[in-house]
Amino acid sequence: MALTFHPDGIEAYAEAHSDPESPLLAELAKETAQTFGQLSRMQVGRLEGAFLTLVTKLVGARRVLEVGTFTGCSALCFAAGLPDDGEVITCDIEPKHVELAQRYFQRSPLGRKIHVRLGDAVQTLGGLSGPFDVVFLDADKGNYQRYYELALPLLRSGGLLLADNTLWSGRVLKPQDEDTRALAAFNDAVAQDARVERVVLTLRDGVTMVRKR
Ligand SMILES: C[S@@+](CC[C@H](N)C(=O)[O-])C[C@H]1O[C@@H](n2cnc3c(N)ncnc32)[C@H](O)[C@@H]1O
Repeated sequence: MALTFHPDGIEAYAEAHSDPESPLLAELAKETAQTFGQLSRMQVGRLEGAFLTLVTKLVGARRVLEVGTFTGCSALCFAAGLPDDGEVITCDIEPKHVELAQRYFQRSPLGRKIHVRLGDAVQTLGGLSGPFDVVFLDADKGNYQRYYELALPLLRSGGLLLADNTLWSGRVLKPQDEDTRALAAFNDAVAQDARVERVVLTLRDGVTMVRKR
C-alpha cells in the first residue's frame, strides 16, 4: 500500500488521471514488493514518480543527483525527464537494493543516463562536483540536514532540491522518535533558510520543494 494522506480512492483517481507508469516500472514495483515486502513502500510510486519526471522537464534539467536509490524507481523517473545526454547520479549504501536497481537500469534505454555510486551518501556527496539542476533527498531521515548542507553547494542557482517524506505520515506534528525529530528539525531549518525559496507539498508522504536563490 502506498504512503499517502489521502483516501485510497482519491490516490487511485489521481494516478489514473496522471501520466501512466511504464510497463518496466510496473514490473519493477512488482519485483520490489516480492523481494522486499513492506519495504517496497519506500519507492516513490506512480503518482510521485510522474511528478518527478514532469518537474525534471520543467526545470530543463541535465544533471540530477539522487540520495537513496533503493530499487531504482525514482532514478528511472528522473532519467525519463532528462534529455538524451542528461545524467542521474544516484547513491545507496545497500548492495542488495542497488543490485536489483541495476538489473532494471540495464533493461531500459534510460539506464545509460543513470550512474550508481555504492556507499555512504555523506562520503559520496563529499566527492562530487556540481553543478546539478535537481537534487532529490530520499535516504535515511536522520541525515537529511547533513545531506542538505552537502548538496546545496552542488546545486546551481535556480536549481531545485526535493526532499521526500518530510511530513512522515503526519508524525512531524508530534515527534516521538529520533527520525521524526530529525525530520521536524530539518523542516524548521529549511523554513528559516534565507538561501532558498520553498514549499511543502502534501503529495504522498510530504515533498519539500526548495529553489536555490
Ligand atoms: C526511501 S529509500 C529510496 C527510495 C527510492 N528513491 C525509490 O523511489 O525507489 C531509501 C534508501 O536509502 C538508502 N540509505 C540509507 N542510509 C543510507 C546512507 N547512509 N547512504 C546512502 N544510502 C542510504 C537505503 O538503503 C534505501 O535504499
